[in-house]
Amino acid sequence: MKVIHSVSDTQTYVRELQMSGNKTIGFVPTMGALHKGHMSLVEQSVKNNEITVASIFINPRQFNDKSDFDNYPVNHENDLELLDKAGCDIVFLPSIDDIYKNFVGFNMDFNGLDKIYEGEFRPGHFQGVVDIVYRLFEIVQPNKAYFGLKDFQQLAIIKLMTKLANFNIEIVSCPIVREKSGLAMSSRNLRLSKEQFKNAANIYRLLIVISNKLKVGEDTDKYCQFFIDEIEKIPDMKAEYCVFCNPESLDLVKKINKNSQIIMCVAVWCGKIRLIDNIILVF
Ligand code: PAJ
Repeated sequence: MKVIHSVSDTQTYVRELQMSGNKTIGFVPTMGALHKGHMSLVEQSVKNNEITVASIFINPRQFNDKSDFDNYPVNHENDLELLDKAGCDIVFLPSIDDIYKNFVGFNMDFNGLDKIYEGEFRPGHFQGVVDIVYRLFEIVQPNKAYFGLKDFQQLAIIKLMTKLANFNIEIVSCPIVREKSGLAMSSRNLRLSKEQFKNAANIYRLLIVISNKLKVGEDTDKYCQFFIDEIEKIPDMKAEYCVFCNPESLDLVKKINKNSQIIMCVAVWCGKIRLIDNIILVF
């Protein structure tokens, strides 16, 4: 496995690979502190492409909360070991200055997608995500790029950006990988205390409870309230939002229609740690 820090070395290496024959490049962008969720993306890329590139970069532009950025877990040694074992070919580990040097940015109309749900509570977050993913796509020029369904809104926005920027890249959506308790794996889970880690399993437990209760014709509002109330009964936990929306348009869904697919998305504070999760419901 090759570890490359410089943008120009990565570009040269990728160009060489492209010229050396018909090799497909799979790309997995990450911010490191890798866990089984990230690795499931890498494994899928390794299975379906000749070359897999992973990037590790904690992107300051997408953090609206400075303390979240300052405390974001870093574990390069372990990350590189996991990537090597999984068969990753190249790891791109750029510096902030190098990656954003000469970057003019990509102006796009988010069609309001960046202002709702996650965007409402994390102003500027999705512009930061688009900046870095656009830049990484320019540098790595993959055939396929792998993203997790855990960050559902991020995935929708990256699909939109890929289309608007005319990148010839297939965006592959990968299922959420969970702890035994059901808690969605996340690098931020490393910052939870033992007690918080245990309590955080209630997020997915409640998503399942609600998915079993909700019936065609019902209003979603009372289930949002139920989620918020149940979370608030747990020490040190507070729900930030709970929404039911259309998985394509992300429009809010107030009433459940027959033969519809709906995604229920939540954000919950566990002490000072913010966690997100979602579940797709089919009626
Ligand atoms: P990060 O949080 O490191 O996640 C990298 C990728 O792993 C994302 O596509 C995310 O959705 C996926 N992922 C995280 N936890 C997962 C889980 N439990 N199951 C499945 N996939 C999971 O998301 C980012 O970084 C950044 O915003 C990034 C896209 C790299 C841009 O900076």
